[in-house]
Formats: sequence, structure tokens, C-alpha cells
Amino acid sequence: MTTEVKNKLNVEVNGIEIGCGTESRVLDAIRAAGFDVPTLCYDERIGPQGTCRMCLVDVEVDGQQQQVAACTAFASEDMKVETHSDSITDYRKTILELLLSETSSPANCPKCLSFKKCELHTAAEEYGAKWDAFPSLVVREKAEDDNPFIQRDYDYCISCFRCTNVCNDWEQAGAITVEGRGQDNSIASFFNNKLLESPCTFCGQCINTCPTGALTDKKIVGKTKAEDLERTKTVCPYCGVGCGIHLLTEDGKLKGTEPDFSAPSRGSLCVKGQFASWEFVKSEERLKYPLIKENGAFKRASWDEALDLITERFTGFRDESGPDSLVCWSSARSVTEANYLMQKFARIGIGTNNIDNCSRT
Ligand code: SF4
Ligand code: SF4
Ligand code: FES
Repeated sequence: MTTEVKNKLNVEVNGIEIGCGTESRVLDAIRAAGFDVPTLCYDERIGPQGTCRMCLVDVEVDGQQQQVAACTAFASEDMKVETHSDSITDYRKTILELLLSETSSPANCPKCLSFKKCELHTAAEEYGAKWDAFPSLVVREKAEDDNPFIQRDYDYCISCFRCTNVCNDWEQAGAITVEGRGQDNSIASFFNNKLLESPCTFCGQCINTCPTGALTDKKIVGKTKAEDLERTKTVCPYCGVGCGIHLLTEDGKLKGTEPDFSAPSRGSLCVKGQFASWEFVKSEERLKYPLIKENGAFKRASWDEALDLITERFTGFRDESGPDSLVCWSSARSVTEANYLMQKFARIGIGTNNIDNCSRT
């Protein structure tokens, strides 16, 4: 006798029937059906927290009706989900107005102004939530932190704790934590709240998960206009790992980078990829043509002159001391095809296995 293993659940979302995996959360089913709900405390890389309650939805299972947080609750067979009932919509608007009352004016939000509309203000706009519906209760102060990379405007913090979770659980850096309790809580780093003196690796993950303007890229903020910013999907040129990034440009000028969350690297970047992978494009020291050293000084040369010199010197060394007197170093910044050609050149052209690549280290 065989036991049938069920690997699909039938779920109905806003009247649309879908099949989803047996370990799916209600949020997965909602998104698979083409709907969405605000998820201010949720980053799929670190899993659900269930704290902001923005994703609350109406569900019906076996005739029983209840409201569940879509990010934490599991979907079940024949579950019916309603994402935007009047009461839930009204409830989300009230939560958003309470959150807005704890933060500075949306008109000055650094993320909305310089990058793209942040998640909090996108949801506020969608639900018609007003900033001044409740008395203002801004209690968190901007951090006095002279690090060159991360701007910390905690007057926009909504205590979602995505930043501390991504720093501790995803990055495993443990640079920031929650300090204080209740309304007085704030995000801080040990011991004096200066990121440069903390275990922070400046990976930028906290910036990228923050759903508000509380954390932004200090190198760019205030220097771009969100509506003019264009994003081009590419790969970080810094090393052989090849993390996905978006180049940010304005009027054709390179302004910075953001991680590409759809890439296999899932948004992770190191400090170079996040904050510096684009700067050498403008460097005065960048090589743009061949240089040949004569009497201790480099002089501009044509490609023919450079290649003739390389041929003469390489052939000379090989004939004089044998092919293993030469070594070829390939570059992690080159494409795979160029690296392939380099090892062919070493093995077949020169006749040595002395070929290596800096991304091996
Ligand atoms: S930049 Fe990275 S390591 Fe530093 S606080 Fe943010 S998440 Fe943690
Ligand atoms: S700084 Fe941003 S990510 Fe961190 S708790 Fe505040 S709102 Fe959330
Ligand atoms: S996203 Fe589900 S409770 Fe915050």
C-alpha cells in the first residue's frame, strides 16, 4: 500500500484559487495570487518577526474566521484569504498613522527624496494615512556618527528591527542592537554608538533592509533626486564572486550602487561593492592607454609599441631561462572568457602552468 503525499495546498486569495506548497506562509499564497500587503518588519532573508502587524489579513478555515499575520501564519488546505476588507484596510491606516506620528515629516524623508519612495511612505500613500492624524511623538534622535558610509536618521525609525536582525543573523556582524525599552528604544552600536568603532563591516545590509529613511547611503543621499535616478542591472566588478548590483545614474552620470536582490547573491555586498565599486570609473589614476617605462618614468605608447615590447621581452625570458621563469596573473575583474584566454596563453603560448588569479585568495 502506498501513502499519497500531498504537496500542494488549495488556497483562495480574494476569490482567486491557487495551489501553494505545504510549507507556504499565507504571505507566499497572497503574493503567488498576485496581491500584496505592506510588510514593514519582514525581510524574507531573515524570516518573519510578526511585530509590525501591517500584514494582518482575514482568513477562513473550516468555517472559522480569524485574523492572522500573513508573514507568520502558515497556509492550510481550503483556506480563504481576504487581504483588503474594510476593517483591515481601516486598521492598517490607523497603524500607519501611529507610526507616522513617531517619525519626522514625510516631506523630508532622505530615502524618498534621494533614492525611491520608502516602504513606510509608500504604504502611507496607498492607505491615505495622514502624518498629523495623531500628536507628534518623535523621540529618537539622529545618531552623531562620523562614519563615511551610513547616515543614521533615527527620527525616521519605526522600530521594525530589520536592521539589527539582518546585521546579527544574516551578516553575523553583530554591530548594532536595540537599546532601551518600549517607546524609548533605539538602535545603537557598542559602546559609544560609532559604527567605525564597532564590529560593523559596512556591508550596507541595514541600509538596504530599512523600510524608512532612517538608514541611507551617506555618499549619495542629498546628491540625487529619486525621480531622476536610473537603475542598471549589472555585476560588481570588484572581485570574482560577482555579486549583483544596480548602478545608479542621474543624467548619465554614475552616482552609486544598490544591491540587486534578484541576483544569486540575494542583496549581499561587501563594503567595496556597496560603497566603492563605482568610484574608480572617475579616478584620475585609471589606465586608459598603454604606458612604457623609460628611464624610470612611464610614457604613453601605442598598442603596437606595447605589444611588440611584450613579445620581445617574454620571448627573451623564455628562450634564456625557460618557460617556467614566467608567471601569468589573471584578473578577477576580467570576464570568464578573458581569463580562459589568459590561461591558454600561459599554457600554450609560453608553455608554463604558472597561471593564477587574485580571486583565489
Ligand atoms: S553595515 Fe552591515 S555590519 Fe554594519 S551595521 Fe549595517 S548590517 Fe551591520
Ligand atoms: S533603523 Fe530602519 S530597519 Fe532599523 S529598526 Fe529603525 S526603521 Fe527598522
Ligand atoms: S510584516 Fe507581518 S507583522 Fe510585520
